[in-house]
Amino acid sequence: MQTLILGIESSCDDTSAAVICDGVVLSNVTASQAVHMRYGGVVPELASRAHQQNIIPVVDKAIADAGITKEQLSAVAFTRGPGLLGSLLVGTSFAKGFALARGLKMVDVNHLQAHVSAHFIIEEGKQQPEFPFLCLLVSGGNSQILLVKDYTEMEIIGQTIDDAAGEAFDKCAKVMNLGYPGGPIVNKLANEGDPKAFTFAKPVIPNYDYSFSGLKTSFLYTLRDNLKTDPDFIEKHKADLCASLQSTVIDILMNKLIKAAKDLKITQIALAGGVSANTGLRDAFEKLHTNRGWTVFIPKFAYTTDNAAMVASAGYRRYQKGLFIDQSAAPFSRTII
Ligand code: KG4
Repeated sequence: MQTLILGIESSCDDTSAAVICDGVVLSNVTASQAVHMRYGGVVPELASRAHQQNIIPVVDKAIADAGITKEQLSAVAFTRGPGLLGSLLVGTSFAKGFALARGLKMVDVNHLQAHVSAHFIIEEGKQQPEFPFLCLLVSGGNSQILLVKDYTEMEIIGQTIDDAAGEAFDKCAKVMNLGYPGGPIVNKLANEGDPKAFTFAKPVIPNYDYSFSGLKTSFLYTLRDNLKTDPDFIEKHKADLCASLQSTVIDILMNKLIKAAKDLKITQIALAGGVSANTGLRDAFEKLHTNRGWTVFIPKFAYTTDNAAMVASAGYRRYQKGLFIDQSAAPFSRTII
């Protein structure tokens, strides 16, 4: 018998629903929230309200696009955390009501494990990573190196002690007045700039942990010092600034990842999270394959930023293990896996 999972994602500012059948994606529908653009960042209260408006049409479309009926579903998987609590409450409450009304089983999903689980989506001709593998998870809220031991067992072996990589992109873009979210804009401009034009601080911290707050400050000081003598400094140098910023972020991320892979003697390396859409980072991953012969797993663009297909994928694996949750499930804003 087929296993059909409805996945629901509402941890930040994307309302998403997807249906997967035995690990294969049948539909993946996302409503992004443009309302935050004018504020240069996600406004939690507005995000919750927009989720409330979007969730029913998004779920209806995901079920229609999948060509199934609600009655055929085996279970509902939903993101329980970490994320913005008000946003998570919308997805969690919806999943609970939906499951209760239809007598469906519920599976709670950790948002970070969901990003990794994008690699477990089954597609023709696609190779799956073998356990154990390392996953670099980089998003707006997290930068971590995970040791993935199994579909549901993942150990954080390194993580940021302050800002996330995506946050560094977004905040540096904000001080340059480039718009929000800054990551994709920096990426586009970086393609036209010189990555060696400016030098920014790199952290010196032990183990496999990351830090991006020093880089952010160093970027800010470069702007401040140069703007004193040239008020058009940003406008004249924005491509070089973006290219240098991007290459510094990538160096920081890759150096620790390579160290972890060498120490643990693991040559299967995956990339996940919103920042995995960055073309420079994707190229750096390709080089792990061409220069070192490691096997790399780079997600499709559709599965980089927040989406419910990855939630449904994680939910499917938990469903197979009988890891269900009941109606007492409450969302959590922060956690470790
Ligand atoms: O995973 P995600 O959608 O949301 C969470 O944070 O959970 O990641 C969003 C982050 C933002 O910081 C955004 O600027 C960044 O991913 N991002 C990028 C690119 N596309 C999205 N950063 C750099 N280059 C990109 N092409």
